[in-house]
Amino acid sequence: MKRIAVCPGSFDPITLGHLDIINRASTLFDKVIVLVSFNAAKKAAFTVGERVEMIYDVVKDLDNVVVDCNDGLLADYLKRTGATAIVKGLRAVSDFEYEFQMALANRKLYDGAETVFLTTTGENMFLSSSVVKQIAYFGGDISGFVPPQIHDFIKSRLLKSDDIKI
Ligand code: PNS
Repeated sequence: MKRIAVCPGSFDPITLGHLDIINRASTLFDKVIVLVSFNAAKKAAFTVGERVEMIYDVVKDLDNVVVDCNDGLLADYLKRTGATAIVKGLRAVSDFEYEFQMALANRKLYDGAETVFLTTTGENMFLSSSVVKQIAYFGGDISGFVPPQIHDFIKSRLLKSDDIKI
């Protein structure tokens, strides 16, 4: 049986921290689906299409990684696709409470949903999509934070853009 994992997130935009988790998940599972998902608590700066395309640009050379999007419950997506694991990155203890709650809720909704936490690498501990958006908005250097393939697109799209809340 193939082991399919889902890496869900807003990916608004994908960062080097996300990419590190995706790369490592791709060595642990037969197939990894990077899933652009809807987080009702956040207002996105990029459209779903833009986020999917940026991810595709940076994962297209990984043989067992695909990109998809979903505007419903993650648990239902797992049921539908036969995926058995949700892979999330943990940066610090502050991430844990929220992620722990979601892991339990997802397993309650679908008992085949197992959440696997990967610890971030030390250099990515501070990194988040919000940090990237704030720096890009003010014209700062984001080259150490996002994959090179999508660097220019993010900068041009966010510089003094009305789309982002500071
Ligand atoms: O990158 P984020 O915003 O922290 O990711 C959170 C996300 C999108 C994975 C989460 O909000 C999610 O799974 N949304 C889909 C709807 C759902 O299933 N919610 C969780 C039930 S506990």
